Amino acid sequence: IRIQARGGELKGKKLVITAGGTREALDPVRYLTNRSSGKMGYALAQVAAELGATVVLITTTKREELYGVREIVVTSTRDMHTAVVQEFSDADVFISSAAVSDYRPASQAENKIKKVGHENLTIELIQNPDILSDIGHMKKAGQIVVGFAAETQNVLASAQKKLSKKNADFLIANDVSNVDSGFDSDNNKVTILSRDKDPEKIELLPKIDIARAILDRVVKTLA
Ligand code: CTP
Ligand code: CA
Repeated sequence: IRIQARGGELKGKKLVITAGGTREALDPVRYLTNRSSGKMGYALAQVAAELGATVVLITTTKREELYGVREIVVTSTRDMHTAVVQEFSDADVFISSAAVSDYRPASQAENKIKKVGHENLTIELIQNPDILSDIGHMKKAGQIVVGFAAETQNVLASAQKKLSKKNADFLIANDVSNVDSGFDSDNNKVTILSRDKDPEKIELLPKIDIARAILDRVVKTLA
């Protein structure tokens, strides 16, 4: 893959990027979450900063500090939603690389749930807001919205549906059935779907190079 990351291409542009898996509290000591490591979002933030962008990283996993990146640490999907909506108003680009919990417990226990009296425990879950879809439908002309789709089957077809349903400009389809890519891996194998071009398949590459390929497309679209 040809990468033209030279620096300065995103100068004056504000990018809002989400990273990590959201956590949904069950009680004061327990939560529901997923296997996301946040690495893809951090790679995107790093490359965007290298290209001169103003970067706001809304993350659930505090990792190494990145020079030139402002971090906002959140926990739940609803907190992430609030932070994204606020930061997106004057942003040029939103990239939704967080693994957002689709559901949260219908209620959060005020005290630690005890075993006694509960032979079996059923937790009712309700759906969370869809951050990417909400931003996709509120974006104004000139703002670019990028989503990811982690799939284990029918990868491209499912991702294509998400691209149009969420009104994104790009959808990065990620086959997470492969043990060598996705979640905790340093590598990723993706296909970039866009509204007007053919899907661009990218070989298995370190996440930092995947980030460069994605931001290369963003730079060209902004130009
Ligand atoms: N996403 C989001 N808010 C949600 C769920 C997902 O912003 N509540 C974003 C993710 O960050 C990702 C994209 O939507 O960029 C697709 O996420 P994915 O889980 O693949 O799709 P869903 O729409 O949640 O559908 P499903 O999990 O049923 O396949
Ligand atoms: Ca989902």
